[in-house]
Amino acid sequence: MYPNILRHPGPTPIPKKVELAMAQDMISHRSAEFVKLYRETTERVKPVFGTKQDILLLPSGGTAAMEAAVANITSPGDEVVVVTVGAFGDYFVSICEKYGLNVHKLQKKWGEACTKEELADFLKPLSNIKAVFATYNETSTGVLNPVEQLGEAVREHSDALFIVDGVSAIGGAPAEMDKWGIDILVTGSQKAMMLPPGLALLAVSDKAWKVIESNDSSAYYLSLLSYREWNEKGMTPNTPAVSLIMGLSAVCDLIDEEGGFSKTVERHEVMKNMVRKSMNALSIDLLTADEYASPTITAIRTPEGLDLGSYISHLKKKYHLDFAGGLGPLQGKIFRFGHMGYCFPSDILEAVSLMEAGLQDFSYPFEPGAGVKAAQEVYLSSLRKS
Ligand SMILES: Cc1ncc(COP(=O)(O)O)c(C=O)c1O
Repeated sequence: MYPNILRHPGPTPIPKKVELAMAQDMISHRSAEFVKLYRETTERVKPVFGTKQDILLLPSGGTAAMEAAVANITSPGDEVVVVTVGAFGDYFVSICEKYGLNVHKLQKKWGEACTKEELADFLKPLSNIKAVFATYNETSTGVLNPVEQLGEAVREHSDALFIVDGVSAIGGAPAEMDKWGIDILVTGSQKAMMLPPGLALLAVSDKAWKVIESNDSSAYYLSLLSYREWNEKGMTPNTPAVSLIMGLSAVCDLIDEEGGFSKTVERHEVMKNMVRKSMNALSIDLLTADEYASPTITAIRTPEGLDLGSYISHLKKKYHLDFAGGLGPLQGKIFRFGHMGYCFPSDILEAVSLMEAGLQDFSYPFEPGAGVKAAQEVYLSSLRKS
């Protein structure tokens, strides 16, 4: 009966308009109707990526798009750099290792970002680096890496391609793929894109296409050349996730309704600040520094003396508020408050208020209402500015 208040890093809540769009009658993926839907929708997604390049749609999770990037631009034995600041940077390490690449791993402590200087220093002694891989928004820690600056370091100290995992960032965080010199940018549908899981989105720069054209890749289902060829006809090589593409079209309508993608980005920034200020007001620590804080997810340290597992399951059971726990070394040490996609300041007020109710149930010492008040102040001040 009660709705699940899904404040997760993804999957995230789906807007009614998107659900209704996905409920339309099925169409053939080789029909004129599909070509129109595909062409119009992929064109409308470009501002969300900050690119003039074509947006390719894979019927898959984000990992397959990451793997497509690796499989299409590299060959076994190639030297690559992977910047990893958490669990999803480690995904790129694993994929690259599986593909037989010689991986130079720039490992940062979980909760920290990688700076331009760190990447520059790491690249300086290396040569023949084929690609540098990085995560934009590290979902396991709530760190937003400064990818614009990382791209500068890549260009200043190598001829490498710059490949970015934008899963959990794209759709909520600013993205300027072309201006920032990103060569392949990938994302998944189930995060800030307000869709169910099952669709990956990807764009490729001219520089990366040249590498792909001359690379002898054995990728078949994930062949980007094949995706490009079919994209020219307004289609995909195999059966696409038709319903999700219908939903994506509705997502573009919602972004337009909000006043364009810059407004969507502003909303995410407000929600980030609401969450952070409310935790400050409750004297609950955050994992990441404000400078690199994610606009889509906040990692909150376990309040002192609280049994985190019991608190999280209590919030779910009594208040239907669903947070995600920590991953890997952060298990039991943090929980993650998702505020991406179909999420609004009113949702943050609701979640903070319920968090406070749960803290009272656990006799946690704090001033009731302090978190809500702080979040409200951020919200009201954003409304005064707009
Ligand atoms: C930053 C990041 N990269 C990659 C992935 C993997 O995406 P998927 O689970 O859709 O394969 C995730 C999933 O949570 C993610 O958050």
